[in-house]
Amino acid sequence: MPIQPNFLERTAFFSLNAAPAPMLDLAGALAFRTLSTAVHLNLFATLAERPFTPAELAQHLNLHERGTHRLLEALAAIGYVAERNGRYHNTSITEKWFLDNKMMDMTAAMTSFDNFFQELWPHAPEVVRSGKRPFDFYQFTATTPGLSDAHQRMMQGNANLVGPAIVKKMGLSPTANRLLDVGGGHGQFTIHFCQAHRQLSATIMDSEIALETARQNVTVAELDDRVDLYAADLWQAEWGSAWDGILLFNLLHHYDLETNQKLLQKAHAALKPGAKVAIFDQVASKAFGSATNAIIKLVGLMYYLFADGRTFTRNELTNLLNDTNFRNIQFHPLRQAPGSSLLVAEK
Ligand SMILES: C[S@@+](CC[C@H](N)C(=O)[O-])C[C@H]1O[C@@H](n2cnc3c(N)ncnc32)[C@H](O)[C@@H]1O
Repeated sequence: MPIQPNFLERTAFFSLNAAPAPMLDLAGALAFRTLSTAVHLNLFATLAERPFTPAELAQHLNLHERGTHRLLEALAAIGYVAERNGRYHNTSITEKWFLDNKMMDMTAAMTSFDNFFQELWPHAPEVVRSGKRPFDFYQFTATTPGLSDAHQRMMQGNANLVGPAIVKKMGLSPTANRLLDVGGGHGQFTIHFCQAHRQLSATIMDSEIALETARQNVTVAELDDRVDLYAADLWQAEWGSAWDGILLFNLLHHYDLETNQKLLQKAHAALKPGAKVAIFDQVASKAFGSATNAIIKLVGLMYYLFADGRTFTRNELTNLLNDTNFRNIQFHPLRQAPGSSLLVAEK
């Protein structure tokens, strides 16, 4: 559980401005490092076997005993483990979000963000100063061993979380049989669509390295005969025509509005009349709480730093779809992933 000030602390930090609220952000950074240390030491997976004392855990994982004890105490303070009779066990938050990676792969997320914070964020002042990046984000993920797969698996956890709801809300016609997933990466969204629509075949377009993760997932789902993997740059590639549905998921945040207009024009040209395009992304909206909207702006900054991208508001995306001659635009917030929303529109 992330750090939650109690009533008195909230009063001191926020209402009276009598205590330094920025300390909470600093503590959030410490909490992230604490969690990533636990993940790297395989601590949560080990506690899933049975509760351990610090000494037992240190011996089992070949760690220093005092270090193990401090780590467990820190994790207990932020709600990821709990102590009973001298033994530590995982809490339900850890079990659900770190260990059941069908729901969300926090281990992959930690590996990804460790790399991003260490290698990319130190360039932030220079990127904000100059607008230029001394790296290419996807080149970086492709050349750092294991990072592309960790990044895709992090995204795939999210796809499992929201996939079934998205399939329902997209409302593909029962006769739809061709789906194109542009920048589909790990392939898990395509898999959810194909599992729900037995007549559907799909193509996932992405880079060769991203499709390595998709290839494994498609095979595990026994969908090799219905899913094509198309290794291509989406700007150079032929998108084909007469698709029944096109997915643009977590993709628009890589680009500015002008570029996204071109992306939607490509989608419009490639769809059958009456067929649907779907955008899934972090979308700022007055309907969301302040924490959710703050997270959307923070990831918006990250998209800018990494790839000159940003997040968009519901109005901006609606206007973009209207301007590309899409009609019947539907906006669906997703309660499974606060802040992420689906927009569906028809050609
Ligand atoms: C943030 S991931 C989203 C993956 C998946 N659609 C999802 O929502 O979980 C963005 C994907 O777009 C792909 N991508 C980015 N630029 C691309 C390009 N120019 N051509 C093809 N794929 C691209 C990346 O490789 C990555 O897999």
